[in-house]
Amino acid sequence: MSSAERLKIFSGTAHRELAEEICRELGQPLGSASVGRFPDGEIDVKINDDIRGADVFIVQPTCPPVNENLVELLLMIDCCLRASSDRITAVIPYFGYARKDRKDEGRVPISAKLCANMISAAGADRVLTIDLHASQIQGFFDIPVDHLYSKPVLCDYFAQLELSRPVVVAPDVGSIRLARAYASSLQASLAIVDKRRHSADATSVENVIGDVAGRDVVMVDDMISTGGSITEAARNVKSKGAERVYLGATHAVLCGSAVEKLAQAPVEEVVVSNTIPVSGEKLIDKIKVRSVAGLLARAIDRIHRSASVSALFSGE
Ligand code: R5P
Repeated sequence: MSSAERLKIFSGTAHRELAEEICRELGQPLGSASVGRFPDGEIDVKINDDIRGADVFIVQPTCPPVNENLVELLLMIDCCLRASSDRITAVIPYFGYARKDRKDEGRVPISAKLCANMISAAGADRVLTIDLHASQIQGFFDIPVDHLYSKPVLCDYFAQLELSRPVVVAPDVGSIRLARAYASSLQASLAIVDKRRHSADATSVENVIGDVAGRDVVMVDDMISTGGSITEAARNVKSKGAERVYLGATHAVLCGSAVEKLAQAPVEEVVVSNTIPVSGEKLIDKIKVRSVAGLLARAIDRIHRSASVSALFSGE
């Protein structure tokens, strides 16, 4: 079997469009898999291609509906393991359940660790992912993790905007490292929003540290979930005299009324990647989607050839 024949890429139902785009980049057909339902709602999976001895990549972000997508991924991994594939890489562009990465109060789970355990226990040999909510989640896996950054993909967009006196703003302290990396690429200064989280969907802004008055703002975060954090922060910098405000986020979770909040926010554009599908009603004019398919395709190609993936990490 040639090296190209050994490479097999499959998709769950979470984001088939991204898997197809990755395959186009690689000049590789998408493998045939069926994902259906038993009458009681249980997920039924079948790989229709011969994968004995194959180097298998399963593309499945664990985005909403996260429980469904996670179980589907686990079943697909188990399926490939039992079909005697040589190696299984779980390609998880968005790793869900990541926000619960420590016991920040008594009697709570560490959900990110449990999900990592389940993925390894199912039989994955490697994980390929993008912008984990906290990079130490890599260590929750006892298998190799290739952790990519979407920054080069989003930064290219901001770089062609001809921003005036740009400042990159971190909407909370957790995003400072990311914002610093964007600021360095865009040759912009840095400011930080002091955000307080009161509950899963309620935040408030206490202060903005740094100079935003009279400047164009690029505000970056790893994800937009309810949209509360980033729209509240955008209003705040605007009230402090910022000129145009652009938002950037890798993962467009966009749950609840996030799209409405973004539509009403005083921002020019919201630039996100396609680690999670953004289509239909979510795709308002203001939202610009940049594809990570090329980045993932290059990483898959390098992993398959046992070549270094670290050359793709420079975007941190
Ligand atoms: C926080 O730790 C994250 O980086 C995001 O700021 C947050 O998860 C976004 O959530 P939401 O859009 O619901 O405010």
